[in-house]
Amino acid sequence: MSNSNAVVPNDLSAFWMPFTANRQFKKAPRMFVAAKDMHYTTSDGRQVLDGTAGLWCVNAGHARPKIVEAIAKQAAELDYAPAFQMGHPKAFELANRLVDISPDGLDHVLFTNSGSESVETALKVALAYHRVKGEGARTRLIGRERAYHGVNFGGISVGGIVTNRKMFGTLLGGVDHMPHTHNLAKNAFTVGVPEYGTELADELERIVTLHDASTIAAVIVEPVAGSTGVLIPPVGYLKRLREITKKHGILLIFDEVITGYGRLGTPFGADYFGVTPDIMVTAKGLTNGIIPMGAVLVSAEIHDAFMQGPEHVIEFFHGYTYSGNPVASAAALATLETYKDEDLLTRGAEMGVHFAEALHSLKGEPHVIDIRNIGMVGAIELEPIAGSPTKRAFSAFLAAYESGFLIRTTGDIIALSPPLIISKAQIAELIDGIRAVLRSIE
Ligand SMILES: Cc1ncc(COP(=O)(O)O)c(C=O)c1O
Repeated sequence: MSNSNAVVPNDLSAFWMPFTANRQFKKAPRMFVAAKDMHYTTSDGRQVLDGTAGLWCVNAGHARPKIVEAIAKQAAELDYAPAFQMGHPKAFELANRLVDISPDGLDHVLFTNSGSESVETALKVALAYHRVKGEGARTRLIGRERAYHGVNFGGISVGGIVTNRKMFGTLLGGVDHMPHTHNLAKNAFTVGVPEYGTELADELERIVTLHDASTIAAVIVEPVAGSTGVLIPPVGYLKRLREITKKHGILLIFDEVITGYGRLGTPFGADYFGVTPDIMVTAKGLTNGIIPMGAVLVSAEIHDAFMQGPEHVIEFFHGYTYSGNPVASAAALATLETYKDEDLLTRGAEMGVHFAEALHSLKGEPHVIDIRNIGMVGAIELEPIAGSPTKRAFSAFLAAYESGFLIRTTGDIIALSPPLIISKAQIAELIDGIRAVLRSIE
């Protein structure tokens, strides 16, 4: 197959790759040069089935025509417009479309360029909201162990991944963490939402008692923690968090960077769990991963609290050069249209049943100590090699890539999140590929 990008550069040293074992990679590079629908093409011309929607973002599959066309058209028509004190129609149209598909009560949108920036934006909105309401003492932020909220300082402060936190000094002050909800002893091999652990939400009451509610601005959680290995909240847990936050005037932020845009078989995780947060953080699937963009949705109550004082004064001192960038907005609008045309925001509800069945058929395969699933997300937890954590899963990742499957690993957990267009036959192919990999690795 001829492809203009297929030439592999002969010096890989200049690019310091993100979240990558650089030395290992550069000894044996894994390069994609093209992608279409469910498949990548490698630089050596092989087809690789995408079991991860890129990085949990290509929900509609690759190179979808409407999105590709919209980007080209927009770049030619209006490439850039200043984001501050100026506007362009597509950003407003997109904000309206997002409000339409979001849970009732989330009525205003701030645009960013990534999940990390969406998280920072949400945390800043929360702090500033309390201040404009005259409750400026509410400065504390509550996150959770094993949470991933991106890589910026706010996000790693409320996040709970040790390797993300230990290198970067003291982080934000005034942050506390709830316990994570992962419980292999009680919940291993649960199909769907696990039963045990609802009471862990009451840890929030303990934290509120410790610090006093009047000092706490917000609680941030992923409805399902994705990047730390698909940690599914116990039944009723998020509802309980909602009750506690409401009772104490604390804002609840859902980080839906992974769970947003159909991943759970509902438009958002909030819909799946029937819990509406005050602020919803999104990115990834918003543009199908094609152009960097994030969106933060907030309640009218939060937005309206800022809309006071002289009209010529900026109400919220925050934004990015590329907030609501025209090309990104066009990509997002075309992505939402593609989702709508193909019912992709809800397709995972039905497909998830087949996915769960196939996934759980891996029970009993070598090294497997847990399998869990929700919507179109799945995880296979492996017994770590004694003294070499992460090595077994990394071997699985390399073996899968060699045999034509893109999977993602975190720790010793294989995480799967295929594009929502995946067929039943491709689900079977993916799971059988992983079965063969599990049987082949040490
Ligand atoms: C829940 C969550 N929040 C934030 C982020 C950060 O997003 P980005 O990599 O776009 O900055 C991620 C990325 O995986 C995520 O899963």
